[in-house]
Amino acid sequence: MENTYLNWYELSLSVLNYEVSGSPRTKDFERLVLTGMGGSGIVCDTIYTALYRKSKIPITIVKDFQPPGWVNSNTLVCSISYSGNTLETLNTVIKSLNLGAEVCVVSSGGKLVEIAKERGLPHVVVDKGLLPRAAFPQLLIATIKVLNTYGVNVYEDLNKLIGVLTFKDVTAATSRELSYFLKDSIPVIISNFNYYPLALRFKDELNENSKMMAKVEIIPEWAHNDIVGWERPVNIDIIRALVIWDDDPTIEFAINYLKELGVKTYVLKPLGDDLLTKILQGSHIAGLTTTYLATLRNVRAEETLSIDKYKKFLQNRTVS
Ligand code: PA5
Repeated sequence: MENTYLNWYELSLSVLNYEVSGSPRTKDFERLVLTGMGGSGIVCDTIYTALYRKSKIPITIVKDFQPPGWVNSNTLVCSISYSGNTLETLNTVIKSLNLGAEVCVVSSGGKLVEIAKERGLPHVVVDKGLLPRAAFPQLLIATIKVLNTYGVNVYEDLNKLIGVLTFKDVTAATSRELSYFLKDSIPVIISNFNYYPLALRFKDELNENSKMMAKVEIIPEWAHNDIVGWERPVNIDIIRALVIWDDDPTIEFAINYLKELGVKTYVLKPLGDDLLTKILQGSHIAGLTTTYLATLRNVRAEETLSIDKYKKFLQNRTVS
């Protein structure tokens, strides 16, 4: 798995040439829904953030079995599932199609690609054989491409975007340092709203690759509730704060506050020229850090037994 993360740049290069199959039925939509779970779902958060300030239409993320009641023929539903068989995503897609929505798909296969082919929906099929979370750049680029066919411009220069994945040595060195910092702790990842996909990604990677519990807090909401919990923590020594840097006074406030409390804090400054490149480079660090942590903790990064158990439980059950 470590090698997959180290090869993210090379793996991403092939996706640049991918074509979108199928064509949009309409490009005239008034709302955008992004749907996907786990390692695929994080692409939704990343796209949401990239479009947050520039989008003229409302965007909603769905990580559930069903779309919101307002989905109709004026809605574009962009679905992402690496396996193409995740029940939450499939149900949301089928129900959205029934509500008349325009649907597009990013996946490596499964039922989702079957539906896309049957109905001629715009779709990109990414390479099989990776774990969903390790396919993050491929899924991200494929989603940017499919949205582009609808005139949704998430990021202009994909070569520039994946360029941050070539900083392998510095990314690996930061990740080593972070893995020692976070070992034997309950990490709390704190970011502002700009970087929430990266904070969430870090937590998810710690959960899945390192088999660790972790918590995410987003500023400014953090400063309106969670901050008070830090006044009397049960065991402050077990907490390690990972703050994602942004040039923002509220981040400085958080760092100083944690310092005053004596919380061991690491400030991560992702590399890149803009928000999306920084989120991608930070995600690269998250992937490597958590695989190094898996080795330090003597667990298998690839294995996610509890997710398998949950997916098995869902089989043959009707969820409405
Ligand atoms: O990273 C993982 O393996 C998981 O978080 C999966 O992404 C999640 O279970 C959803 O599966 P898929 O990405 O195939 O839709």
